[in-house]
Amino acid sequence: MTTAIIGTGNISGRLAANLVAGGQDVLLAGSDLKAARTLAASLGERAVPLTVDQAIDKADVIVFAVWFDTTKQLIAQYGDALVGKVLVDPSNPIAPDGDGGFVKTIGAEESSGRLLAALAPAGAKLVKAFGTLSADTLTSASRRTPEPAVGFYAADDEAAGEAVAELIAAAGFDPVRIGGLDESIRIEVFGDLHEFGALGRAVTRDEALAAL
Ligand SMILES: NC(=O)c1ccc[n+]([C@@H]2O[C@H](COP(=O)([O-])OP(=O)(O)OC[C@H]3O[C@@H](n4cnc5c(N)ncnc54)[C@H](OP(=O)(O)O)[C@@H]3O)[C@@H](O)[C@H]2O)c1
Repeated sequence: MTTAIIGTGNISGRLAANLVAGGQDVLLAGSDLKAARTLAASLGERAVPLTVDQAIDKADVIVFAVWFDTTKQLIAQYGDALVGKVLVDPSNPIAPDGDGGFVKTIGAEESSGRLLAALAPAGAKLVKAFGTLSADTLTSASRRTPEPAVGFYAADDEAAGEAVAELIAAAGFDPVRIGGLDESIRIEVFGDLHEFGALGRAVTRDEALAAL
């Protein structure tokens, strides 16, 4: 399984570091090759910088570590090149509210997971994952002992979900599937299973199962 991360920002860097620490190879691509090269150089030989075209072509699993609107644009741009791939969406569709807080940029009952899945071509399988924890927690809670922290995910497709569960485990988290993509609103910001929702922190498997 070949994994690409699109984006070279906060989530990309932390997720790539977690995956490399878990023995995974990652392809990295951003809005320019220079940023991908810089990030890859900081992670060692397991991280390979490529253009977005090359990364999408080579990868089986593509993590869109970019903002929701950018993922929308990339799905439209790459269209059929995404067929047969697993698309991973960590996005939280929010923007500053001008008052020090954040506001959702899509409808209150909408989730970016479902909206993006509807835009993806038939034959591409979208999985919601890696967006439930803040970037800092993604780093600090990885490979937590004695009880690992849960990485929630939502998937309609069983095989795609299992592929992403493997990545979550390699990234140092205990994968817990919450259900299909119609549940993904629960693990997006303002959702009850998001770190900034009712749970308030990275939880253990027992705590996660009690909350489901
Ligand atoms: N930060 C968090 O704590 C957190 C937590 C959970 C989920 N998330 C979600 O994770 C996603 C990424 O967040 P982030 O904090 O990592 O954002 P970020 O640091 O701003 O990184 C976004 C990355 O996207 C790249 N990018 C923009 N347009 C692109 C394009 N057309 N092709 C390829 N790359 C492009 C940017 O490159 P340039 O800088 O060169 O434009 C940048 O490297 C968002 O959807 C966010 O909601 C973030």
